[in-house]
Amino acid sequence: MQPHLISSFATCLLASSLCALELPNPLAGADGQVATTPDAWQKSVRPQTLQIFREQVYGVRPVAKPAGFQAKVLREDPQALEGLATLKEIEITFTGPNGSAKIHPVLLIPNAAKAPAATFLLFGFVKPDPLEKSNISGGWPVREILTRGYATVAFCVSEVDPDRADGFAGGVRAIFGNSPRPANAWGALSAWGWGASRIMDYLETDPAINAKRVAVIGHSRCGKAALWCGAEDTRFTYVISNNSGCSGAALARGKMGEKISDITSHFPYWFCENYRQFSNHEERLPIDQHQLLGLIAPRLLYVASATQDDWADGKSEFESCVRASPVYALFGKPGIEATSLPPPDQALLGGTIAYHMRSGKHDLAVSDWQHYMDFADKHWKP
Ligand code: GCU
Repeated sequence: MQPHLISSFATCLLASSLCALELPNPLAGADGQVATTPDAWQKSVRPQTLQIFREQVYGVRPVAKPAGFQAKVLREDPQALEGLATLKEIEITFTGPNGSAKIHPVLLIPNAAKAPAATFLLFGFVKPDPLEKSNISGGWPVREILTRGYATVAFCVSEVDPDRADGFAGGVRAIFGNSPRPANAWGALSAWGWGASRIMDYLETDPAINAKRVAVIGHSRCGKAALWCGAEDTRFTYVISNNSGCSGAALARGKMGEKISDITSHFPYWFCENYRQFSNHEERLPIDQHQLLGLIAPRLLYVASATQDDWADGKSEFESCVRASPVYALFGKPGIEATSLPPPDQALLGGTIAYHMRSGKHDLAVSDWQHYMDFADKHWKP
């Protein structure tokens, strides 16, 4: 076995070949040095690992908070949802060398809150519409969230960077991009996460929000984006991946269902160009996705799968949590509380990494949200 590769814990009970997989050691940097203290991991292993994911998978962001950043509240309704919440329609403008664009997140703050509220920031596929969709779609169950005392904000990822192969010219990557695009240039997933960070820039200025308790949450492609967002921006203290699968929470090595060859041929624009070289060559990857989960440490992390979601591969997502846990252990925190897959619908909330496999299909259901809020309650309302 090469020194930077480790196999799973001897105690692994998961009835799967994943247990025997050799994966890069999440405590080792690209230089092969293994961190034995949190400080060494933060100062050396974390930046090296992050840089590999930037260069080889999601791409390098050319800018953080841009000089031309502006955020304002366009409209405020203090009695939204029959008085349950204050609704703020926000407009964020970013300007770069090649133009400017605006995004329009919608923020809801519970009127019953007695202190700045912890907040769930949702990466949305569509324009957020809490008034019409709140009780219809599980995707953003705003009444449930507000009733439990949390604020929530959602945005449409396509406003940041259009979610289509020819969308490049219409989004933030073109505004800050250069031509020709280098092979490590950021893909759409990273651009969406960048947009969430700009919403965080606004949330830090809103006195109704506790900016130290903001969770990012996304489903499927948005789950991948939420994980990468949490890796890039440590201001998010809770990161939630709902059915993110390939190039999200699931391991690349040994994964069933969708592979890098599938995702880079159907959705090449989600990633940097360099990622394609690992199509059918997962073994050449210098990292694997458990190290993406490790980049969230020591913050709260929740990974959820669904029993009928073979394309995402829930077993691989679970194993990824197990393999990321040594990073949490280095910080003296429990990672995931078990090394064997729990029965469907039983949430493992006892560690700093939480996990459940919901019965049913690929979806973001209200029951998923309930588990995510239970985990937040445990840590934020002890
Ligand atoms: C496709 C893709 C997945 C992705 C999903 C989604 O199925 O292959 O990787 O998660 O779309 O975002 O809906």
